[in-house]
Amino acid sequence: MEKTFVFGVSVEGDNFTDRTQETKRIRSNFENGVNTILISPRRIGKTSLVKKVCSSITDPSIKTIYMDIYDCRNEYDFYTRFATSVLQGTSSRIEHALESAKEFLGRLAPAISVSPDPSHEFSISLGIKPKNIEPETILSLPEKIARKKRAHIVICIDEFQQIGEFPDSLTVQKRLRGSWQHQQSTSYCLFGSKKHMMENIFQSRRMPFYMFGDTFYLKPIPTGEWIPFIQSRFASKGKFITAELAEKICSTVDNHSSYVQQLAWNVLLQTDSNATEQNLKDAVEELLNQCSSLFTQQTESLSSYQMNFLKAVCSGIHSGFGHKEVTDRFDLGSKSNIARIQKSLTDKELIDKIDGRTVIADPVLRLWLTSQYL
Ligand SMILES: Nc1ncnc2c1ncn2[C@@H]1O[C@H](COP(=O)(O)OP(=O)(O)OP(=O)(O)O)[C@@H](O)[C@H]1O
Ligand SMILES: [Mg+2]
Repeated sequence: MEKTFVFGVSVEGDNFTDRTQETKRIRSNFENGVNTILISPRRIGKTSLVKKVCSSITDPSIKTIYMDIYDCRNEYDFYTRFATSVLQGTSSRIEHALESAKEFLGRLAPAISVSPDPSHEFSISLGIKPKNIEPETILSLPEKIARKKRAHIVICIDEFQQIGEFPDSLTVQKRLRGSWQHQQSTSYCLFGSKKHMMENIFQSRRMPFYMFGDTFYLKPIPTGEWIPFIQSRFASKGKFITAELAEKICSTVDNHSSYVQQLAWNVLLQTDSNATEQNLKDAVEELLNQCSSLFTQQTESLSSYQMNFLKAVCSGIHSGFGHKEVTDRFDLGSKSNIARIQKSLTDKELIDKIDGRTVIADPVLRLWLTSQYL
């Protein structure tokens, strides 16, 4: 059965709305060999957008390859994922993959085994041992294949911030950048769900990936796009929601894509035929229940200073935390203590700074904290 509102997984087809400008910009980067870096808070729609752009490319001389490195723990895991994804993504048949491996991976090639995989025509596992790995051989693989095929390859790497967690991460980053920046027929689209870590990798002058490409922040989908989307989904179930109430769904969760869909779904479940204010209230309550165990887990190990800081933000304080009235009212300790709290809450991705204002990164966490503590 087709779901009315989809959340928690990347979306495509009719479940994907808007993003016309962003799609155009990224597609143009892909077609012109420009590297792209995409940064946004969690669950805004990076994965869906990049997959959509990949599927919209019709030029047969451009090959897009998508890989997710969320489970890569070190450099070695990364090279293995990189090589297998590139071989798989550039070959329609096993024989071609083996040929490319033999031609371009040299002595690493014999370690390839092929096993049937229902989701692809075939899958490859590279049996390279960490001590045998040759980073440059693997990193230059797409470029060599692209040249041979006279094609342009775009490599999209999801959860790229994982790189920042690798042992000796800086050396790895230098190595990747060193290799990729010379490639003419391969470009990269790098994105990830940890905004703060992505910023550390791409926005600091000291870091190897500084100015690596067209870096942009993916903004929330505007309310004007969501309203007809929500209304049409209600209509498809024979139900009705006013534009005003659909707008409230968006504003309640700051237009956060995944939460808009989740809350709209909750409202739909509550609605008999016409959605009411009470339906929305109950739906928000339900959303808080659904998220409660996750939020409890995210906050239970915080110190009381850290919790106090979150409470201050929820009470509407977004700057000037060192002012005496604020520190007295919320018990935040000394100025240096406040700086420490801010850093650790930022590292945990619990707070974010937008236009100089400190905010709770997750809009529903903000509602939950407010309902629990204020
Ligand atoms: N263009 C869109 N149209 C409609 N809904 C969307 C769109 N993009 C994202 N969403 C909603 O947001 C959810 C998360 O999307 P997606 O997984 O693409 O985001 P993400 O930014 O990659 O998330 P994460 O930070 O967890 O990696 C989807 O399940 C869907 O509910
Ligand atoms: Mg994602």
